[in-house]
Amino acid sequence: MRIAVLTGAGMSADSGIQTFRGAGGLWEGHRVEDVATPEAWLRDPALVLQFYNERRRGVLAAQSNRGHLALAELAQQHDVHIITQNIDDLHERAGSNKVLHLHGEIVKARSERNAGLIVDCRTDLHLGDLASDGAQLRPHIVWFGEMVPMMEPAIGIVEDADVILIIGTSMVVYPAASLFQYSKPQAPVFVINPEQPEMSRSARIQFITQRAVTGVDHFIQEILPAL
Ligand code: OAD
Repeated sequence: MRIAVLTGAGMSADSGIQTFRGAGGLWEGHRVEDVATPEAWLRDPALVLQFYNERRRGVLAAQSNRGHLALAELAQQHDVHIITQNIDDLHERAGSNKVLHLHGEIVKARSERNAGLIVDCRTDLHLGDLASDGAQLRPHIVWFGEMVPMMEPAIGIVEDADVILIIGTSMVVYPAASLFQYSKPQAPVFVINPEQPEMSRSARIQFITQRAVTGVDHFIQEILPAL
C-alpha cells in the first residue's frame, strides 16, 4: 500500500522539541514577524540567526521517538512517503528514507543570493559566514511569505497515495494544511493528535486521539490490517 504521512511539530513533541502554537509553544515566546520572515532577515539578521541557532542546538540534542521509529519500520511493509512540515531530521535519524521537507531543514544552510546553493550546517551560523558565491549564509528554512517549492512534489505524492496519515499538526498553516485535499476521494484519512485539529468534517476522516508515540503503533497494529 502507498501511504502518505503528513507530519507537524506534534510528531517531535515527545522528542522534547517545542511545538509552535498553544501554551508553551514557540510562537508564544517569539513574534513570527521578528524571526521567521524575509523582512526580519533584512531588518535584524543576527536575531534571526540566533533564533535558528537555538532551534538547531535543540534538534541536534534531541532523539527520534517511538513514533518516528514506527513509521520507519512501516516502510519495510509498505511504500511510505513522509511529507513533513518539521525542520528537524528526526524522521531520517529514525531510518525513514523518503522524507520531503516542506518548510526546509535546520541542519542545512544556503546562500541568501542563490536558493539552490545549499550546504550542510550542524553548527551555529553567524554574520560573516559566507556561501561559496560570497553571499551570507542563511538557514535553509521556508519563512512566512516565501514560496513553498516542495509543494509540487508533495501534491504528487498525496495524489498517488492509497491512505493518508496526518500526525501532530494544527492544520492552520497553508499551503501545507491543504495537502490532504489532493488525495483520491476514496483514500481514507487518519489523524493522530491528542487534540482534534481544525479540519472540515468528512466521513473519510477518522481521528486517533493519541500522541504520536502511541498513535502510530495503534494505527499500524489495529487499523492498517483492516484496510
Ligand atoms: P503547531 O504547533 O501549530 O501544532 C502542533 C500540533 O501538534 C497541535 O495540533 C497539537 O495538538 C499536536 N500535538 C502536540 N503534542 C503532540 C504529540 N505528542 N503527538 C501528536 N500531536 C501532538 O505545529 P505545526 O502544525 O507543525 O512553519 O505548525 C505548522 C507550521 O507553523 C510549522 O511548520 C512552522 C510553524 O510556524 C514555519 O516556521 C514556516
